[in-house]
Amino acid sequence: MTVLVTGGAGFIGSHTCLALLQAGQDVVVLDNLSTSSDESLRRVQALAGKPLVFVQGDIRDTHTLQQIFASHRISAVVHFAGLKAVGESVEMPLHYYSNNVAGTIALVPGDAAGRRVHPGIQFLLHRVWRPAARAYC
Ligand SMILES: NC(=O)c1ccc[n+]([C@@H]2O[C@H](COP(=O)([O-])OP(=O)(O)OC[C@H]3O[C@@H](n4cnc5c(N)ncnc54)[C@H](O)[C@@H]3O)[C@@H](O)[C@H]2O)c1
Repeated sequence: MTVLVTGGAGFIGSHTCLALLQAGQDVVVLDNLSTSSDESLRRVQALAGKPLVFVQGDIRDTHTLQQIFASHRISAVVHFAGLKAVGESVEMPLHYYSNNVAGTIALVPGDAAGRRVHPGIQFLLHRVWRPAARAYC
């Protein structure tokens, strides 16, 4: 199974990548490195003894997303790409809204048709992500 981990270079994402690799899964990371470094991914791969695919890009970049889904048979998406500094979010609410809310919407479009997406993803989007998104609102 190939898992797309957004924000995979970050704190929680990198630990998730390591656990996935150690569990025998293939991992594709999409991260713009806005609050992290690809050094974490180098260490993850060294610890796991297994490579992952790293795409440096923004979750709001639909062209990048389309390329990832066209190039890899993604079976699951774990979404950690987000900004989380409380003070900064008060100072720059629109920046946070764009990154976290618009970013999640860009990642979960209704037009998954045309992408090489496992049918189960559609089920997960409807049964898991939508209720989760409501919980965060
Ligand atoms: N750290 C915690 O204790 C904790 C607890 C609960 C929930 N969370 C949530 O989990 C998520 C990840 O937290 P973390 O601690 O790993 O944060 P982190 O800052 O270490 O990692 C976030 C990663 O997302 C990337 N990123 C941010 N915006 C992006 C974008 N638009 N496109 C691509 N990549 C982007 C960053 O470069 C970074 O690598 C956040 O949404 C956070 O609110 C964290």
